[in-house]
Amino acid sequence: MIWLLFIFLIIIFLLYLFFIIFALDNLIFSHDLPTSNKAILKVIEIIKKYNPQASNFYDLGCGRGKVVLKIKKEFPNLNVYGVDKNKFRIFISKLKSLIFRKKINFINKNIFDLDLSKADIVYTYLWYDLMPILETKLRKELKSGAIVITNTSFFSNWQPKEIVNTWENISDPNFEKLFIYQKN
Ligand SMILES: C[S@@+](CC[C@H](N)C(=O)[O-])C[C@H]1O[C@@H](n2cnc3c(N)ncnc32)[C@H](O)[C@@H]1O
Repeated sequence: MIWLLFIFLIIIFLLYLFFIIFALDNLIFSHDLPTSNKAILKVIEIIKKYNPQASNFYDLGCGRGKVVLKIKKEFPNLNVYGVDKNKFRIFISKLKSLIFRKKINFINKNIFDLDLSKADIVYTYLWYDLMPILETKLRKELKSGAIVITNTSFFSNWQPKEIVNTWENISDPNFEKLFIYQKN
């Protein structure tokens, strides 16, 4: 009986520790606002429309892996890459992919140190300040025909092929707007 109580206390302690790390991660590092389920469904529609035969999908700044898990579920033959500079978020993503038995390639790296020449589809939900330098990198590095989908933040010099609204009638008209770009 005492062992059961001991195990119970250990589980409570681990959950508490996990919660503290989770909260500190959000406080100390940049936020990890995940893409909504509704926007992910739109991303899936966009992939089906623009490049259903794609081989390599990258979420640049994958956070805790929500988007990559759903994309892998919808497109089991796609090579899916989730990249994030935050070790804890990559750890959580790997744990989730193990639990849900999805083979996803997680890379703990700064996205600006990554070779994207093999990417067919790139997805981002990043801060506005990263977009100008990301635009330069993607336009230089991506192969012809590759698709880029950005969520909310967008490129200032690259003309999108299409803009897709996720939400109607909300106060911030740019919130979760999806911008679709194609490399010439
Ligand atoms: C708003 S979250 C988006 C998470 C996920 N893509 C989604 O849409 O659900 C942005 C993530 O980008 C990561 N990030 C920001 N700058 C980065 C960089 N230069 N290299 C790698 N990851 C970065 C942050 O750590 C954060 O987890």
